[in-house]
Amino acid sequence: MSALSTFWSVWVIAIVFGTLIACGLLIQYSSKTQVHSEETDETTGHEYDGIQELDNPLPRWWVIMFWATIVFSVGYIAAYGLANMQGFLKVEVDGKQVPWSQTAQWQNEVEKFDEKVAPLFAEYAATPIPELIKNEEALKTGQRLFASNCSVCHGSGAKGAQGFPNLTDNDWLYGGSPEKIIHAIKNGLNGMMPARGVMPSMTDAQIDQTVQYVRSLSGLKHDAALAAEGTAVFMQACAACHGVDGKGNQMVGAPNLTDDIWLYGGSTKQIDFAIRHGRNGVMPPQGHRFTDEQVHVLAAYVYSLSNKESAQ
Ligand code: HEC
Ligand code: HEC
Repeated sequence: MSALSTFWSVWVIAIVFGTLIACGLLIQYSSKTQVHSEETDETTGHEYDGIQELDNPLPRWWVIMFWATIVFSVGYIAAYGLANMQGFLKVEVDGKQVPWSQTAQWQNEVEKFDEKVAPLFAEYAATPIPELIKNEEALKTGQRLFASNCSVCHGSGAKGAQGFPNLTDNDWLYGGSPEKIIHAIKNGLNGMMPARGVMPSMTDAQIDQTVQYVRSLSGLKHDAALAAEGTAVFMQACAACHGVDGKGNQMVGAPNLTDDIWLYGGSTKQIDFAIRHGRNGVMPPQGHRFTDEQVHVLAAYVYSLSNKESAQ
């Protein structure tokens, strides 16, 4: 718990009690100096634009309220404390009674909530993910976890963006099994494509040919003559990871280049960039943010996004 330094603590306490005492003195003083104890027509002699100030006592109910607020403040301070002074109220944190503070109360509420949801998460964790996606409540919980932890990169609808994969299309860089998804969440991912693949000597002309060949794999508009030349280059420089058929390799996260689904884009410019500079998509490990049960529920949500038909 962070505390104020002694100086500022004394400073705050002095100001608060000083103000309370000053208020008390003020109200007592103004009641004593009152000439009349009943309402009269007499004025204080102050006049402005024909408006005169009557010299009447403060209404009784008002004076009582004023004292009541002072008494209330003293009670409130005694209960909740002030600056470094602790009040008599206690809250339970970690099984111990500790003096009230905002932090302690927050911890207390978090603990109560965790206790309440623990059995629920235990039940979810015991359910295999392909089963769990039929449980709407579990998916809603997963969606909330996704929204606050993953949507910054993958988008609120998990549809991704350039460099951040769409998680709803059943087209996987690394594989869409529950185990793969859990592994991705816990350990993060790092796609590593070296510039010019495994052929550092690749010439500019060969790059142009390979770009055309890659476009032809997805049936995009391409120069057939260049693409034909590019086949051999692809086999030498790219097939080790993307496969001889260009369908990718989930062991290394090499995308399928034949399905016209792109992580970075299928334009000549983007493919050219990938070959010249390589690609290194990184997802930092997220495991430290969650309990194993939470990862399970989160993975179920992600799994459900591309397994809609079985989620019914
Ligand atoms: C900092 C950005 C970032 C955050 C936060 C993030 N991801 Fe990722 N995620 C990525 C990137 C980038 C990739 C692609 C990695 C690559 O290119 O090799 C990825 C890939 C994945 C994959 C693999 C997709 C595939 O096609 O195989 C899954 C599953 C995934 N993320 C789930 C999640 C979940 C669930 C969360 C929230 C706990 C999350 N990600 C948070 C950036 C992020
Ligand atoms: C060592 C393995 C490896 C080799 C060799 C390799 N790639 Fe890649 N490639 C990858 C990986 C992994 C990614 C995904 C990078 C990421 O996640 O950021 C990728 C991404 C790409 C992309 C982006 C795909 C998209 O969806 O936007 C293109 C295009 C590509 N590679 C083409 C090639 C070509 C052409 C060659 C040969 C010159 C090649 N790659 C060689 C591993 C490789």
